[in-house]
Amino acid sequence: MQTLVVRGGKPLCGTICVHGAKNGVLPLLAATLLGNGPSELSDCPEITDVLRAAEILRCLGCAVCREGNTIRVDATKACGICIPPELSGSMRGSVIFLGALLARHGCAELSAPGGCVLGERPIDFHIRALEVLGVHTESEGSVLRFRWPKRHGGVITLPFPSVGATENLMLAAMGVSEPVVICGAAREPEVAELGRFLRAMGAEVEGEGGSVITLCGGKPLRGTERRVLPDRIETATYLSMTAACGGDICLKNTDPELLRPVLDVLEKAGCMIFCEGSEIRLQSDGDLCGVGLVRAETYPGFPTDAQAPVSAALLRAKGCSEIEDTVFPCRFRHIAELRKFGANIQTDNARAVICGVRALYGATATATELRGGAGVLIAALAAEGESRIMHAELLLRGYAALDTSLQKLGAEVRFA
Ligand code: UD1
Repeated sequence: MQTLVVRGGKPLCGTICVHGAKNGVLPLLAATLLGNGPSELSDCPEITDVLRAAEILRCLGCAVCREGNTIRVDATKACGICIPPELSGSMRGSVIFLGALLARHGCAELSAPGGCVLGERPIDFHIRALEVLGVHTESEGSVLRFRWPKRHGGVITLPFPSVGATENLMLAAMGVSEPVVICGAAREPEVAELGRFLRAMGAEVEGEGGSVITLCGGKPLRGTERRVLPDRIETATYLSMTAACGGDICLKNTDPELLRPVLDVLEKAGCMIFCEGSEIRLQSDGDLCGVGLVRAETYPGFPTDAQAPVSAALLRAKGCSEIEDTVFPCRFRHIAELRKFGANIQTDNARAVICGVRALYGATATATELRGGAGVLIAALAAEGESRIMHAELLLRGYAALDTSLQKLGAEVRFA
């Protein structure tokens, strides 16, 4: 367990270059398994989820090497079909390798995937959708075995635009020569980017970024090169931190268009935001006001991953804010931790009601999951006095160079 010690109450000022996106790089790493010849991904963030994904590729027989932020994967000799339980258990994103393994080998084995604790996180949509394409599933304890004896295409309608299920189906579709049509697909930028990546590998993909994606696979794909998309959630987190603490931050290598709903909420709270090209500048005097209802939705709505960081920014805002999460209705485990700083938040039926308090005070609190942990960190940065964040290693699953970036902005933080 790692502990992050934070001495709060300091404004954040400076410039940060946003890293490549966690949720963007994982599906691309899974897709490299399908390339004949090496693929190269640049701007891969140094976070534990990426280290684990690289480890999974190695276990599956790929040659993986990392030089700085570039990862090269050569899947030519990859013949493994089994994702070891210690890796699938620690990262829910590991489920994304299922589609790629099925496309490549027609079989796969994994343990029930882990990752952030966000209420119930089943993979029934993935399994039911793959069954439409002829995949057979067997479970033994926590081990799931998949076989694909008769590959065929089909039209799949997802009951919810699940990001992971859409990506898994796109990857699995590379193993069938008949068309696979995904209706009710997730429209997140990272899903669209996977579509573009597969096309660059030689696949036929249409409609990515929309609700209906059509794919035609069944032919050899080539390795390719790609720069990972900037992390829109890392951007939202640093903006929320500065909103909460006061200060003046400039974020480079980001895309304001992908963050409209978050920028709108922070502006409504009283921050000054300036966007130009791939840069966002936020100025805050730390005196925010309540914003009414914020509803986390699928893209292009307000992202569920930004819900906890933005909630934490509103803890000292004058007036009330309400946060509702329609994607993960139980994603409120961080609330109990935020109360330890003196916050006034009540939860009720997938909603959190925040009534701003005058001040937050240093506390010992736990990072409950990656983004909830970011919320706890923001509360600690905005609080008077010293805080200790337990299980801070969870933050390193998704935030590269966290302590050095914060120190650069003038925050007093250190891993104990
Ligand atoms: C991905 C992101 C995560 C983000 C989430 C929603 C990655 C690695 N993670 O997670 O950061 O918070 O999208 O934007 O990209 N569901 C089921 N059955 C399933 C699959 C999902 O019931 O088989 C439910 C989930 O419990 C949740 C909702 O569908 O309530 C959305 O989940 P989903 O979009 O699949 O999230 P992930 O892909 O796991």
